[in-house]
Amino acid sequence: MQWTKDLKVGVAFIDADHQEFVDQLNAAVAASDAEFPAAFAALAEHTRAHFAREEALMDQVGFFATDVHKGEHRRVLAEVEHFAGQLARGNLAFVRAYVAERLPDWFLQHRNTMDQATAAFALQRGAVPAV
Ligand SMILES: [Fe+2]
Ligand SMILES: [Fe+2]
Repeated sequence: MQWTKDLKVGVAFIDADHQEFVDQLNAAVAASDAEFPAAFAALAEHTRAHFAREEALMDQVGFFATDVHKGEHRRVLAEVEHFAGQLARGNLAFVRAYVAERLPDWFLQHRNTMDQATAAFALQRGAVPAV
């Protein structure tokens, strides 16, 4: 998965988190089987923090679809927890396929909808500086 400026939503911390997400996802995909569990754990940890930062902004600006956006974050974190459990049971190939094939599509779709809408709303409210 390639980070490009087309992925920016115009809010500096969200763009930094998304760039980090892409970097960590690529690192997990490229990791050896021995390295993969640590890479997956790092990606999961970063994703929790990334979502929490977006949620703080939603709360701050009163984003109109906060419940939907937070609900989608919760759904993905539950999915990541599920796959962490699969990894703990040794289903490495299954979890590698999730990271390589499903997470990139999810990320692009989420960025194009909920993250973009949240960023546009916060910028319109003047809650964050435009970059
Ligand atoms: Fe995001
Ligand atoms: Fe999000």
